[in-house]
Amino acid sequence: MPQKKSKLTARRVDKHALYEMSVQAPEDDARFFARYYKKYTGEPLRSFREDFCGTAILSSAFVQLHRDNHAMGVDLDQPTLDWAARHNVSRLSPEAQDRVQLVRGDVADVRKPVAELTAALNFSYSVFKTRRDLGRYFDNAYQGLKPGGLFVLDAWGGGQSQFLMEERKKVEGFTYVWDQADFDPITAEILCKIHFEFPDGTRLRNAFTYDWRLWTLPEMIELMTDTGFRDIHVLWEGTDRKSGEGNGVFRRVRRGGDEEAWIAYVIGQR
Ligand SMILES: C[S@@+](CC[C@H](N)C(=O)[O-])C[C@H]1O[C@@H](n2cnc3c(N)ncnc32)[C@H](O)[C@@H]1O
Repeated sequence: MPQKKSKLTARRVDKHALYEMSVQAPEDDARFFARYYKKYTGEPLRSFREDFCGTAILSSAFVQLHRDNHAMGVDLDQPTLDWAARHNVSRLSPEAQDRVQLVRGDVADVRKPVAELTAALNFSYSVFKTRRDLGRYFDNAYQGLKPGGLFVLDAWGGGQSQFLMEERKKVEGFTYVWDQADFDPITAEILCKIHFEFPDGTRLRNAFTYDWRLWTLPEMIELMTDTGFRDIHVLWEGTDRKSGEGNGVFRRVRRGGDEEAWIAYVIGQR
């Protein structure tokens, strides 16, 4: 059967929807955090905080896992939170909607209600470019957790993270482009952009721009230790033998691999 041609064009797309399709797997992530928390603490995970929540798709997935699950998403950007309410939270049952709270604020300031697990994903904490600012955020994340609660951050690195390059990935009906546009080895400041390309030749350049610092795992672990987190540990993503790409399976390790590009979770307990 001939394949239906994608009608997507830069003139008629929603960048948040494209972002979600390109880089997020909310059902898998929500289940993973619930399972990990249960395994680690022996208790079910019922309160989740999503820092830098953007469209809050993860919080929306989390409350659907169990009728006693509550989620709070925190983001600075009101238009993005409005999008989250309109497209993700409003799709939940009215009863589940009541269990999602979207808060406009700085993740380094918002402290209540306390959560059992707080996640900061897609490297968003990299907006904090100094030890002082990242440390202030970690301190707030610590205070915003119940005793025994977990703080989870993802991290990326390997030689490739310091190259200037564009990496393309085909998604349904369009191409996602991850652009490492600038990197300064002296400050570790990195400028990344997301572009989208469409079958009709149109492009949405600079849909998202990230002015970040590329933190290393030892820097993050030292700062988390200074904050007071306990049992700080790393889950390293395995590699698919055939493709050489990450396989989505994260295991607790003491030593990382020398991969050109790697992804890991860093976890600390309050
Ligand atoms: C890379 S997106 C992350 C979206 C989503 N969490 C994910 O995992 O893909 C970064 C988000 O962080 C928000 N943000 C940046 N600095 C922030 C801060 N200090 N406090 C709260 N949100 C912030 C931005 O508005 C943006 O929505």
